Amino acid sequence: MNNSIRELAFVTSGQIGSDGDGVKLTRLIGTADLDMIDPFLLFDSFESDQANDYIGGFPSHPHRGFETVTYMINGKVRHKDSMGNEGVIEPNGVQWMTAGKGVVHSEMPEQQHGLLRGLQLWVNLPKTHKMTEPAYQEFDESKISTETTNGHTLNIVAGKTNLGTQGVIHNEHVQPTYLDVFLTGTEPFEQTLEENHNAFIYVISGEVSVGINQAKLGERQLGVLTKGKQVRVEVTNTNKDSRFLLVAAKPLNEPVARSGPFVMNSHKELRQAFDDFSNNRF
Ligand code: FE2
Repeated sequence: MNNSIRELAFVTSGQIGSDGDGVKLTRLIGTADLDMIDPFLLFDSFESDQANDYIGGFPSHPHRGFETVTYMINGKVRHKDSMGNEGVIEPNGVQWMTAGKGVVHSEMPEQQHGLLRGLQLWVNLPKTHKMTEPAYQEFDESKISTETTNGHTLNIVAGKTNLGTQGVIHNEHVQPTYLDVFLTGTEPFEQTLEENHNAFIYVISGEVSVGINQAKLGERQLGVLTKGKQVRVEVTNTNKDSRFLLVAAKPLNEPVARSGPFVMNSHKELRQAFDDFSNNRF
């Protein structure tokens, strides 16, 4: 029975770096330590109250072959793309963008000062859909379902909770789960997942204890989970509320050829992506 409860398999604090026009960030997936968690290709956390760390933003850049998921904790980001789509992502709001065959967009802070904190996840697309038409699923906080279970509050971005609440995001390819959990109860938080889905936890604040082993995962750490049916997470210190993301999806098990903003199945397709972009075919 216990072996169906997922345990912490690997823990990382990520790698500090910068991307875009000098935005300081911590990369947690897509590093030498943790190349990917199929189908998750990259996971970045950007967080600073110093404008110099983020004001440059992510000016115009392309993507092809996967999806970018931006989730804001504090502050706002304005996105704008080459097809005329534009919007602002606000705290507890999500933008799930299918880049597909190609999007050129910018992601810029919608503020001159104050705390900006957000997370970006890259989700791979299957070979059959890498060249699909670009699409957006974008929802602000008011559109994202919430639920209280065992005293914990959940924002349900994607997937289905044990109580049956369905997230707003639809993705048949990898059937993602993306839950923002405020661990406010004293009972363990439990969530059933497909046994073969890859899953990770990222601690937004506080500290959590994972699985039967009660291994600790600290603030801003990412923990990869073992396979299994059940996720169990509890607080380690009942005086401190903790908050974490639980993210899971079906692995694609396909070859990955990636370079910068393009993620395809072969080097030939990568060369084509660079060629198409430099010849304005996006
Ligand atoms: Fe982007």
